[in-house]
Amino acid sequence: MDVIHSVAALRERLKREPNNVFVPTMGNLHDGHIELINIAKPRAACTVVSIFVNRLQFGPREDYDRYPRTLEADCAKLLNAGVDVAFVPDEREIYPEPQNYLVDPSDLQDILDGAVRPGHFRGVATVVLKLFNMVAPRAAIFGKKDYQQCLMLANMVRQLALPIDLILAETVRAPDGLALSSRNAYLTPEERSEAPRLYQLLKKARTDILGGALDYQRIELDAMATLARQGWKPDYVAVRRANDLQAPEPGAPRLVVLAAARLGKARLIDNIEV
Ligand code: PAJ
Repeated sequence: MDVIHSVAALRERLKREPNNVFVPTMGNLHDGHIELINIAKPRAACTVVSIFVNRLQFGPREDYDRYPRTLEADCAKLLNAGVDVAFVPDEREIYPEPQNYLVDPSDLQDILDGAVRPGHFRGVATVVLKLFNMVAPRAAIFGKKDYQQCLMLANMVRQLALPIDLILAETVRAPDGLALSSRNAYLTPEERSEAPRLYQLLKKARTDILGGALDYQRIELDAMATLARQGWKPDYVAVRRANDLQAPEPGAPRLVVLAAARLGKARLIDNIEV
């Protein structure tokens, strides 16, 4: 595995690789990330993984400074997973000058996680476009745990006519249902045993909808009230159309239930397709 820090060296290395598949990450790798790599491997002559904690997608009061950085352990996992190229740029490599040219995902950046985290999706879209231009992959893989991020990037690729196939992977969970996330490391042992409730409530919402429930607002409010009673600070639980995350007509096909809530120092997100 080549560990590459500069864009120039990356381009030189990938000149020989017209068939590379790309998995962007912020590091602190867990089995969810490794699953994306396992999906990439059989489709690629060369699997490229980036590790870059992107300041542009963090709000001023968010966890950029304390986001877990575990480069040595990450590289061991990438090597073990059979990755060909690890791209590990520092901030000057990605942002050598103030980033004045930004991708504005105006259809999605003001709702759900976009509303709670102003500027977040603009930061994600901008860095992913930039990484795409550096790696020039044939395909890229993202996890559905970040459902709104997936939809936003699919819209960006389509509207900007990027010649890249997006492949979306199912959420990898702990045996008790909690979606794997680097931010789970912020949970105390007691919070960790409470954390699976988020997914349990999403499963209950899906069961209710499949059972014919049509009052989606009731479902959302009940779930948020349960979270609040158990010590969470919910940002939202929302029943939305899967294709554009707008509010559905009752009985609409293809829904997704999305949730975001704080538990102690961790902000957890999850979703379930209906
Ligand atoms: P990060 O949170 O490191 O996630 C990298 C990729 O792993 C994303 O596509 C994410 O959806 C996926 N992922 C995370 N947890 C997962 C799980 N439990 N199951 C399946 N996939 C999972 O998402 C980002 O980084 C950044 O926003 C990035 C796209 C790299 C841009 O900075």
